[in-house]
Amino acid sequence: MKEFKHVSVLLNECIENLNIKKDGIYVDATLGGAGHSYHILKKLNGSGYLYCFDQDIAAIEASSKRLSTLSLPNFKLIHSNFQFMKQELEKIGINSVDGILFDLGVSSYQLDEGERGFSYNYDALLDMRMDQSSSLTAKDVVNRYSESELTRIFFEYGEEKFSRKIAANIVKERKVKEINTTFELVDIIKKSLPVQALREKGHPAKRIFQAIRIEVNGELAILKESLSNALKLLKPKGRMCVITFHSLEDRIVKSLFNEVSSPKSWNRNMPIVLDDDKIEYKLVCKKPILPSVEELEQNNRAHSAKLRVIEKL
Ligand SMILES: C[S@@+](CC[C@H](N)C(=O)[O-])C[C@H]1O[C@@H](n2cnc3c(N)ncnc32)[C@H](O)[C@@H]1O
Repeated sequence: MKEFKHVSVLLNECIENLNIKKDGIYVDATLGGAGHSYHILKKLNGSGYLYCFDQDIAAIEASSKRLSTLSLPNFKLIHSNFQFMKQELEKIGINSVDGILFDLGVSSYQLDEGERGFSYNYDALLDMRMDQSSSLTAKDVVNRYSESELTRIFFEYGEEKFSRKIAANIVKERKVKEINTTFELVDIIKKSLPVQALREKGHPAKRIFQAIRIEVNGELAILKESLSNALKLLKPKGRMCVITFHSLEDRIVKSLFNEVSSPKSWNRNMPIVLDDDKIEYKLVCKKPILPSVEELEQNNRAHSAKLRVIEKL
């Protein structure tokens, strides 16, 4: 197997904000290359316990090796979508935890594994599944979704200005021949863009690839429910850290955190907390934590990252 390369984003900020207690129980919902998990486990130093989730078996296998180098037994890797976190933890008798981390999206390893079809830089079959046992692939989305569905996905998930044109050209091309590969898709995208858009910074297919990946993996569809179920697992003083890389993801996290940390009958004209309005969570920081200048210089992937932290009261 290729080496699992992924530089963790906002690593120190997450470790600090999780407020790790030596004997606490922690969950890494998005194990990836175990960058964050490695440091959580090290802090636990043999007591407490760490449960890690990833829906990608390659991440589980690579991280199992990485975490074993610490020679600490107190962790378990769970190959599952984090949307089933509560049920998976219940199966092993865990009903509450001291901290949960979500570092959303894909890992650099997934992008660099050309044959997984996530990247516009490698020619491969259109796949993009994080969980390779799931059925929907990027090829299905590109060849089967209607023109209006494609336009919506490109616009909402990719914030692509030329969504309509790209969707129309995909539909036109697939009538002639099925679109099978990443490079075939890149060609169609490039042909759909005006010259000045092709000259802009960044790869012209970046936004469309991101949009299709989000759709294939149902990333936004499961987020709110997964986060709100995870919040219910927190013990008093337990914390949840969420790193997002997309404005829609961040909006979901921000609005959920605001919702659960404000009184239900909150009203601009009557800023009074009623007795039965017990607030269960508090925002650890009102504004998201952003990567430092040094981190941005070293890791290009950190540019769109935002960390939000909440604590159960
Ligand atoms: C950004 S990477 C995490 C990197 C990790 N924090 C590190 O420092 O090495 C995100 C990981 O979460 C996984 N993932 C994304 N969505 C998931 C979901 N709904 N359920 C389980 N795993 C998911 C991906 O497969 C990927 O390995």
